[in-house]
Amino acid sequence: MRNLNENTVTDAVLQTISAETDHRLREVVTSLVKHLHAFAIEVGLRPDEWMQGIQYLYDAGKMSTPERNEFILTSDILGLSSLIDMIKGRGVGTGTEYSVLGPFFVEDAPEVSVGGDMAGNNPGVEVVLSGRILDEKGKPVGGARIDLWQNQDNGLYDVQETHEGAVPNLRCHQITGADGRYGVRTIRPVSYKVPDDGPAGEILRATGRTAWRPAHYHVWINAKGYRPLVTELFPGDDPHINGDAVFGVRDSLRVDFSESNDEAEAASYGVKFPYQKVDFDFVLVANQAVE
Ligand code: BEZ
Ligand code: FE
Repeated sequence: MRNLNENTVTDAVLQTISAETDHRLREVVTSLVKHLHAFAIEVGLRPDEWMQGIQYLYDAGKMSTPERNEFILTSDILGLSSLIDMIKGRGVGTGTEYSVLGPFFVEDAPEVSVGGDMAGNNPGVEVVLSGRILDEKGKPVGGARIDLWQNQDNGLYDVQETHEGAVPNLRCHQITGADGRYGVRTIRPVSYKVPDDGPAGEILRATGRTAWRPAHYHVWINAKGYRPLVTELFPGDDPHINGDAVFGVRDSLRVDFSESNDEAEAASYGVKFPYQKVDFDFVLVANQAVE
């Protein structure tokens, strides 16, 4: 390990990784070192630029809290979170496509019975969001847990509010019966900006990018014997549908908010008539189908 130069330092680092290292860890660290070195060589990285990168990591760490993780946001705006979703989705076939989890999921959201109310007194356009959870053969999946969460009409998630009693709001979970059905009375989500007051926001501004996300419902479904499904549903006509700051939109996840005239449904969900309706069936992939 003497007289190293630009062409030999990468191998010198790799040779220091002990042979007893866990196989997968070795594979990941080896590739990471190779790509980091190749990146520095390719752009001729200067010390001041490298220091700026280090400062970015320092600032991101300093502003991160359990509720606001700037590293996750960085991964999101660089498309890395979406790329990892796509890798996870390899071989998933006819299952519903994945999309980003985002930072605003909360465990232990209240249970709302199927056909119940997630919106309470929130202002906004009333929506019935409903459908079924199915397997790849179209059979309903009973006993599935679906978590739903979304932002308020002011663009914020409940966890971004600071006033007492703000949480929980516009989030719930349901357990499907044998028919696989889920359904809530809720409101239409609105487009909003990802938090852009930190280092990730600086990247967006410095590169002339948008912080907007199209409106969306967040969904996380867990059912025994199936791969967990983390995804989102987007109004197909949202003005930001083609410019999502975190690259979460897939055509298969764009939905219509149709005006509905179904009086019986309006009565059973307690929505004022006419209301908007989103009907979407989620398709889960059995564990063994991809393992
Ligand atoms: C969200 O959808 O809530 C979100 C996703 C990525 C970054 C910030 C917010
Ligand atoms: Fe979101």
